[in-house]
Amino acid sequence: MANKKGCIVLENISKSYKTGETVLHILKDLNFTVTKGEKIAVTGASGIGKSTLLHVLGGLDHPDHGKIFIEGEDIYSLSDEKVADIRNRKIGFMFQFHHLLPEFNAVENVMMPSLISGIDKKTSLRKAEDFLKKVGLSKRMKHKVTELSGGEQQRVALARALIMDPIVLLADEPTGNLDRKNSADVHMLLEELNRELEMTLIVVTHNMELASLMDKQVTLKEGSLVSV
Ligand SMILES: Nc1ncnc2c1ncn2[C@@H]1O[C@H](COP(=O)(O)OP(=O)(O)O)[C@@H](O)[C@H]1O
Ligand SMILES: [Mg+2]
Repeated sequence: MANKKGCIVLENISKSYKTGETVLHILKDLNFTVTKGEKIAVTGASGIGKSTLLHVLGGLDHPDHGKIFIEGEDIYSLSDEKVADIRNRKIGFMFQFHHLLPEFNAVENVMMPSLISGIDKKTSLRKAEDFLKKVGLSKRMKHKVTELSGGEQQRVALARALIMDPIVLLADEPTGNLDRKNSADVHMLLEELNRELEMTLIVVTHNMELASLMDKQVTLKEGSLVSV
């Protein structure tokens, strides 16, 4: 049997949204395979279904049909609790808007996935500090989220996404909300840390500079992923 470590397979994935009488078919019998360590840029028009795809892929939203295998495990055949556990241990998410918890400081936000997984506070804190150092925020550990700039908030979000050493990082327009300089910094970090930690990276982006740093560029078109 082939080595499934780090591998993600999407098999005949369909997803639609029904609003009143209208049915929007967003993903249509989509097939795609991601191998360990691969870096993929996903592009596509606004509203085409890129975020939907990442949510389905990352165990956040059930497809109507089809299967997602994460390291050989058919995730949507599992209980919600088991899916949440796989998400916590194997998948890192980064969104356009950071989705950090505003009432907590930087290091507390980064610790959160580790604490949720049952790792003790001391170890979680040490790991969170290490990751904040990696993203260049050793001087911002105790800052509240609201006291950080947009670029710093995204770097905290990146540290939080990485703390569990996921097999894959899913990033949904991570620099869509940043100015050019901050975008470039976050791109470099994504690329560097991906290389250092040897994880798979799937990034939705309109930024062609970032897309060109990836191994593969695909676009979402008429419900399927096609090479560009
Ligand atoms: N929960 C939902 N209910 C109904 N329609 C939705 C929902 N989420 C997304 N959509 C619609 O599905 C389409 C794809 O959305 P999305 O995946 O967010 O696109 P993208 O990320 O490519 O801009 C859009 O037309 C959006 O309005
Ligand atoms: Mg989107």
